[in-house]
Amino acid sequence: MMRHEDIEKNLPLMIILILVVLSFGGLTEIVPLLFQKELTEPIAGLKPLPALELEGRDLFIREGCYNCHSQMIRPLRAETERYGHYSVAGESVYEHPFLWGSKRTGPDLARVGGRYSDEWHRTHLKNPRDVVPESNMPSYPWFFENTLTGELTGRKMSALRKVGVPYTDEDIAGAEASVKGKTEIEAIVAYLQQLGTHLKGAR
Ligand code: HEC
Repeated sequence: MMRHEDIEKNLPLMIILILVVLSFGGLTEIVPLLFQKELTEPIAGLKPLPALELEGRDLFIREGCYNCHSQMIRPLRAETERYGHYSVAGESVYEHPFLWGSKRTGPDLARVGGRYSDEWHRTHLKNPRDVVPESNMPSYPWFFENTLTGELTGRKMSALRKVGVPYTDEDIAGAEASVKGKTEIEAIVAYLQQLGTHLKGAR
């Protein structure tokens, strides 16, 4: 009979057995989640981001805003009182990749949509200290100069459709025209203003 000591002294065997145990543990946690409707189905009324907001999301990624801002409100009282209803999985099913983040140098943005006016966001992104004097957030003056070509917007949508985001043929065909010539600031503000607005009563 094999004793525990024999396993501990046989490194390859121990590695294999550890992997078996860990994957079993992992599978029992992960597999049931894949079949829970609550976690895999979009919440009522969730729509894929329109072209301009999709480009805004890409700017959020390009500029690394997620390094300072999470988009995930945990179900803890201190968080829900400050930010609003906690995040639910069904809000993120069209997010590839999701931008939950974990570092909060600045506040969580999961429900920032509608909290400020477009004008506030424009001023804030041009120079955060104009509206929040103690802010250490960087300025993004180039958002006001750069315009979008929309060349790749349709292709981004088709790629997202392949992984399950329900963009229609019209969405894709009209993508370029609906963003071409718009400035980056319009895109990022449009993106920020819809964040967290899909969950009813979330704000
Ligand atoms: C170096 C960290 C840092 C980065 C990078 C950063 N922010 Fe911030 N952000 C902050 C801090 C700190 C605050 C709080 C002070 C303020 O409002 O300026 C903030 C506040 C905000 C707010 C207001 C949130 C609220 O509820 O009051 C928005 C919106 C925002 N940031 C958007 C962005 C966007 C969009 C980007 C990327 C283009 C970005 N931030 C990049 C640190 C950062």
